[in-house]
Amino acid sequence: MRFSLTSITRNLALAPLWVAQIGTKAKSFRDNPILGSPRLNKWGLHAARRKVADAMSRYRRPELALHIAPQERARFDEVGYFLRHDALNPEHFAALRHEIEEVRLPAREMRQGGTVTRRIGLDDLWVMRMPATRRFLRDPAVRALIHYAASYAGLPTFAVQTILANPSDEAADPQTLLHSDTFHPTAKAWLFLDDVEEDNGPLAYVPGSHRLTPKRLAWERERSVSAAESPDRMHSEGSFRANEADLAALGLPPPVIMAVPANTLIVADTSGFHRRSPSPKPTRRVELYATLRRTPFLPWTGGHLAALPPFAGRLAQLEMGLQEALERMGFAHGAWRPVGEVSAYESAKI
Ligand SMILES: [Fe+2]
Repeated sequence: MRFSLTSITRNLALAPLWVAQIGTKAKSFRDNPILGSPRLNKWGLHAARRKVADAMSRYRRPELALHIAPQERARFDEVGYFLRHDALNPEHFAALRHEIEEVRLPAREMRQGGTVTRRIGLDDLWVMRMPATRRFLRDPAVRALIHYAASYAGLPTFAVQTILANPSDEAADPQTLLHSDTFHPTAKAWLFLDDVEEDNGPLAYVPGSHRLTPKRLAWERERSVSAAESPDRMHSEGSFRANEADLAALGLPPPVIMAVPANTLIVADTSGFHRRSPSPKPTRRVELYATLRRTPFLPWTGGHLAALPPFAGRLAQLEMGLQEALERMGFAHGAWRPVGEVSAYESAKI
């Protein structure tokens, strides 16, 4: 390997940041030579982060369980997700779906292989005239599920998400491979606005794969040694890919395919293995989507910066503005493209 003076200077300047990221949710092996170091990971750096994050989440979760029915919590602890059919009463769901069908709001789209994901961030300003949607976003019972799955309180980020898959496009969609989003508990939620059939690209989740068993820890440790050099970009960025043989070696069952009727709510810890099921035909899936991912090592559940002014209720706009400013200045090139005001049910723009 050859080092130029510029790269040495750059590395020296970035070194403190790379070290500091050990104590954060940073997960990319390829972008941080400390987190990605084969030697340090052979010595157990990644495994130690994984273990400490797991211990902290187990310390925080009992407090977050107080607002969840014991049976529902026990089921989550076993499988890694909450699943509620008829999540909203029928009138509430019909009103919410109507609002989302009608509204046109600023959106962003991202293409991965033949699949386009569209997100419309639901800031307070946008939902002022969407009372049924706002009621769902503020529902403490829904928040409680997201908090428990994330192992943190705080303000989830909400969006209307549309998945437009076109299998005739040859390029592979990386989301159709089983993967773990990151090395610590993290929550994603989906309220499906339409029926999701088996051939409609449903979510699939490997029950129990959110638990850090000794076998899983050993598997993670082994993967971490070579992750920085993986040809699979998302794997090297810290979203470990798994195949059928991995599941068998880890003593895990095959994924459960979540073909569910409209008005089903799923809240999952996506550190467990999951994927979007490949679809044999062009499909469209529309859902209310939420995510909550916080730094994994804190002993307390509150103190979420995004839940405080001036961020609370404005995150979608602030994030979009920041990303566009960074791209204009040449500091970033994100996969998400702004596509103007669109409806969730329109065809893809990119
Ligand atoms: Fe994922």
